[in-house]
Amino acid sequence: MVLPDMPKAYIAAWLQNQVFAAAPEIPNARGTRPDVADSITITDNRSGESLEIPIENGGVDAAKWRDLLPGVWFHDPGFATTSNAASSITDLNGIDGILRYRGYPIEQLAEQSNFLEVAYLLIHGELPNQDEYDNWAHEITHHTYVHENFRKRFNDAFHYNAHPMGMLVSGIAGLSTFYPEAKEIEDPEIRMKQIVRLIAKVPTLAAAAYRYSQGLPFIFPDNNLPYAANFLSMMYRVAKPSFEADPVLTKALDLLFILHADHEQNCSTTAARVVGSSHADPYSSVAAGCAALYGPRHGGANEAVLNMLNDIGSYDQIDDFIESVKRGEGRLMGFGHRVYKSYDPRATLIKKAAHDVFEVTGRNPMLDMALKLEEVALSDEYFISRNLYPNVDFYSGLIYQSMGFPTEMFTVLFAIGRTAGWLAHWKEMLEQNSRIARPRQLYVGEGERPFVPMAERSA
Ligand code: CMC
Repeated sequence: MVLPDMPKAYIAAWLQNQVFAAAPEIPNARGTRPDVADSITITDNRSGESLEIPIENGGVDAAKWRDLLPGVWFHDPGFATTSNAASSITDLNGIDGILRYRGYPIEQLAEQSNFLEVAYLLIHGELPNQDEYDNWAHEITHHTYVHENFRKRFNDAFHYNAHPMGMLVSGIAGLSTFYPEAKEIEDPEIRMKQIVRLIAKVPTLAAAAYRYSQGLPFIFPDNNLPYAANFLSMMYRVAKPSFEADPVLTKALDLLFILHADHEQNCSTTAARVVGSSHADPYSSVAAGCAALYGPRHGGANEAVLNMLNDIGSYDQIDDFIESVKRGEGRLMGFGHRVYKSYDPRATLIKKAAHDVFEVTGRNPMLDMALKLEEVALSDEYFISRNLYPNVDFYSGLIYQSMGFPTEMFTVLFAIGRTAGWLAHWKEMLEQNSRIARPRQLYVGEGERPFVPMAERSA
């Protein structure tokens, strides 16, 4: 292995200044005392040199690895064993199916809180008192309007059948051009202003994308309505001066926003952090997160689940479908997770909420197929041996569909909730003064070779 061509003093200085060293001391999230005796030892068999590295907060400092092995990179495509952050936002234990925001169990937040309060918790680290909550809700409510250019010109530029996720990603990125001061990311007040604007305006952009796709006129935000109700009003109000959504459906939507609000270092949050680490403005960082969410392996899975159920077509096709998945001819969408090796606690909560929604909307005919699919998968060796359980996206689409959302809007709804999480991570990362994200690679291509003129190349 070739060592980097750098003077020794430079390597030493470079090694000292690593992300892990810059990360703050955080209490052990699992409540056990970090024990200095817990450590690993790595040995370079070429030289016989060894180095002991303490295990702290469930991780080992990669800078120490680089101390012993400069120029030998830890190869981890997909970051399956790499921690990119010391974060105190979300605690996720995938073995036991535990999810907590800032220490509060997701089940308690789902039962007793609301999305705006949860967003405050994620961003500020503590639950708000009444005054703090009222100010926060007032601020968010009074930043829901978007510039007239958005309404009149931006959306009109899209094709009539544009996917609303494409419109949302572009819209969020486009917002940065309306707020040039957002570039001043070092200023905490300016940072907070953009956080408020984004949480407030993403539902407005989302509803506008939907209205455009339906050929319906844009509906202005209604400052008298709470967050989820206002979103439903912007989606569905027709002709009348106001819109009153069914309280059960509004509550279910608010719950879904809570359940989607954060999930530690998932693909989209990592994308938002990577872009934010270059000190791009928050709109560009959140747009990057939103783009990552779009994919069917991530937030796009909720749309993919409904498409899959449609493709299966009927109850009696389920066994054949499962067999085709086992032959590697496709995936059971809404199943499996990088971190959860047990039932996703969000899926449990969504399954419960589905029953409340169906009381109002009538039972979604796809529900029986989804339940049967789950039953068959959970008793099949293929899925058992790989720890594949339903994830958050397996049942959420059924609720969304029953509430009247077209499938193209499902991932957009996920993005509304997750905006709070992306911003909490962006803020935390900047406050920790972390370094630019810039991984290494193992080069496996050609060595140096001379250029071949076109006439001498073989056909
Ligand atoms: N259906 C069938 N087989 C699966 C599935 C699935 N949904 N998920 C994983 N596997 C198999 C996979 O083929 C592999 O088998 P083998 O070891 O024989 O090659 C094994 O399980 C491990 O899979 P992996 O792809 O290495 O796992 P990963 O951690 O890289 O991927 C995942 C995680 C979520 C991308 C994947 O489980 C998946 O594609 N699920 C379907 C899409 C989905 O529901 N995504 C939503 C995730 S939760 C919400 C969110 O993050 O947005």
